[in-house]
Formats: sequence, structure tokens, C-alpha cells
Amino acid sequence: MTRRPDGIRGTTITGTGMYVPDRVLTNDDLSRLVDTSDEWIVERTGIRERRIAAPDQASSDLALIASRRALAMAGVDPADVDHIMVATTTPDRILPSCACTLQQKLGGTRAAAYDMFAACTGFVFGMGIARGLVGSGIADTVLVVGVETLSRIVDYTDRNTCVLFGDGAGAAVLQACDTGVGVHAVDMHSDGELGEVLEVPAGISRNPASDDTVAGREHFIRMQGKKLYPFAVRSMAEATQRCAEQAGWDPSEIDLLIPHQANLRIIEAVRERLGLPAEKVYVNIDRYGNTSSASIPIALDECVRGGRLKPGDKLGLAAFGGGATWGATVMTWTLPLERARRAAAAPGAVKATVS
Ligand code: UT7
Repeated sequence: MTRRPDGIRGTTITGTGMYVPDRVLTNDDLSRLVDTSDEWIVERTGIRERRIAAPDQASSDLALIASRRALAMAGVDPADVDHIMVATTTPDRILPSCACTLQQKLGGTRAAAYDMFAACTGFVFGMGIARGLVGSGIADTVLVVGVETLSRIVDYTDRNTCVLFGDGAGAAVLQACDTGVGVHAVDMHSDGELGEVLEVPAGISRNPASDDTVAGREHFIRMQGKKLYPFAVRSMAEATQRCAEQAGWDPSEIDLLIPHQANLRIIEAVRERLGLPAEKVYVNIDRYGNTSSASIPIALDECVRGGRLKPGDKLGLAAFGGGATWGATVMTWTLPLERARRAAAAPGAVKATVS
């Protein structure tokens, strides 16, 4: 394995996996709960349906299936993972972390397991941290998971938010590779000034749970969508541009961009800013809605198992979310098509539906 002159190793993705719950919630279903319509939701967001976790499914249950699939593709035993990083806004509980619960379900006690709260940007931040761990030699194998059961914190009386969000999990295994391929750049940012644009007002130290917070529906997501919209377009486009620059690419050279799936119009605007044709930008928001930290790894796994990525392809991932947080990463894909094909054909594999 080659190293840079300073000893830094390359870092790449060696396995991906995803899982979405079986239950489908359609736009028509929602129009029976709030004053909305399939026409409004499709036109303003591109969403047609989303998945909802069963009552007995918590985030760690979704994460477990996605993680097992990613580890199987990578050929890694769960006991050999060094770090388990779970990006989520909806852990099973505040204590213990979702990552520790996932570790217990996967088996093995070797990994350092911890959650990351970076909202929809969590998976991209996870990629950045994993690159630092693997590149420096602190870790050989890092499992990065994005998982959400947002249906548990969505207010199904609020039409501004309930039409947008869905449940699901995606995972990736990151390991060392030759320099010159794998992850070239990661761009990570936050701006706490924008904190109140997307929030869950109560439940922890600022506003502990009480009868009043429950009666005020303060444990649910509140969002000022209009304020987030322009920020989303600008932040994802600029972060991708910065990463491409660091890699020495023009953004239009990217073969596949997987943006956070928050709104089809946001994705289209980012695509235009980067000068990419529609076929180079992956979209699955119509089927899953916004699954926050899970949206990018779910989409990535669909692309991998669907044969959309071959070694040498230039891949970009870009996200924005509550906090506010935003970031991107670009990499040269290394996973052989054959490995992805074998994983897709394995018993219990996710049926890839690639648009
Ligand atoms: O992962 C990060 C999470 N956040 C986001 O991704 C949010 C980014 N923002 C957006 O995606 C868009 O701003 C929304 C999809 C949330 C809203 O779209 P918009 O085009 O910005 O609509 P709007 O907020 O300007 O609302 C237009 C109208 C309003 O009615 P009035 O005041 O013009 O009479 C809303 O009350 O649409 C109304 N409206 C709805 N109507 C039917 C809002 N939600 C709905 C709904 N069905 N579900």
C-alpha cells in the first residue's frame, strides 16, 4: 500500500449497505392527515412516498441491517471494526448511544462506538473523521452509519414538515488504500447562528420534558423551510466546488454526485450551479423523502449495488442540515464492480432500484 511522503495513507470505501422499513406512507395517505395534496408535495419537493419504521423498530435496528450488509460487502467481521460512528438525530435513547447499542447487536467489543449529532450532514462529517482516523493509521477499519427514525419526531399535524421526512439507514466501511485514489478532499462547516431554523425545542437540558412541553408539541421538529432553501443550494454547491478544486478537478468532471435528498428543486439548483447534466446526479427522494443523515449512504448503496459506480469514477457527496451544518467530499471510486454485484446477489441483499 502506497503512502504519501508524510506517511498519510489513502482512505476508501470498501463496502456499503442500506435498509428502509417496509411500510410506505404515500402523499395521499398524508392528505388524509393534514391539508395537503399529492400535487403540492410532488411539485414543491419531488417526494411521492417515504418509509416509516414499524413500532418495534428503533434506529439501531435499521442501522444493524444496513451495517451487516456493508460489512458483508467489505468482507469484514464486525469484531474487526475499530470505530463505529453513528450519525443520527434520532438515537434509540440519549444514553447509551445508538452506536453502542449497534455494537452490541453486531457483536464484538473492540470498536470505539459513538454517535454524532450533525443532522443531515452527519454522514459527510463521518466520512471526514473516518478519513482522518484511517489516513493517520489510528484505525484500520471504520464503520460510518447514517440512520434516522424521523417519524418519531415528526409532527403529523404540521403540514410544513410532515410531508418531508422518512425513515431509513445507510452504512459504509472505510479502510486504507493506495494514495491517489479514494477520498481526495472533505469540506466540513457549521454556523450555529442558524440554529433556530431547524430545531426540536424540548426534551433535553434547555427544556426538559414536562407535561407542558408535551402539550405544546415541543418534542417534534420545527422548521423554517424558506430560510433553509437558499442556504442549502449555496452551501452544497460551494462545498462541492471547494472539494473538486482540492482534488484538481473541474466540478463538471464529476461522474456521479449524490446530494442530500431534501428537496428535488434544491438538488436541481445545485446541479445547475455545478454544470452537471441530470444523469450525473442521483435522485431517490421520490421514494424515500428526506431521511436526513441516512439519505446519502442509502443513495450511495443503491448506486453501488445498481452498478452505477466503477473503479476510477469521480464521486461527489454533498449535504446540508440543521445546526446549521454543511459539507462535501470527493473521491475516486475503487470498489470493483464484481464485489458490488456479488453483494447484490447474496441472499438477503437489498433489491437495488436505480433510477
Ligand atoms: O434536510 C434539511 C431539512 N430542511 C429542508 O430541506 C427544507 C428546505 N426547504 C424546502 O424544501 C421548502 O422551503 C419547503 C418544501 C419546506 C416549502 O416549499 P416552499 O416552496 O418554500 O413553500 P412555502 O414555505 O413558501 O409555502 C408556500 C405555501 C404556504 O401557503 P401561503 O402562506 O402561501 O398561503 C404554505 O403554508 O404552501 C403552503 N404549504 C403547503 N401547502 C400544501 C406548506 N406546506 C404545505 C403542504 N401542502 N404540505
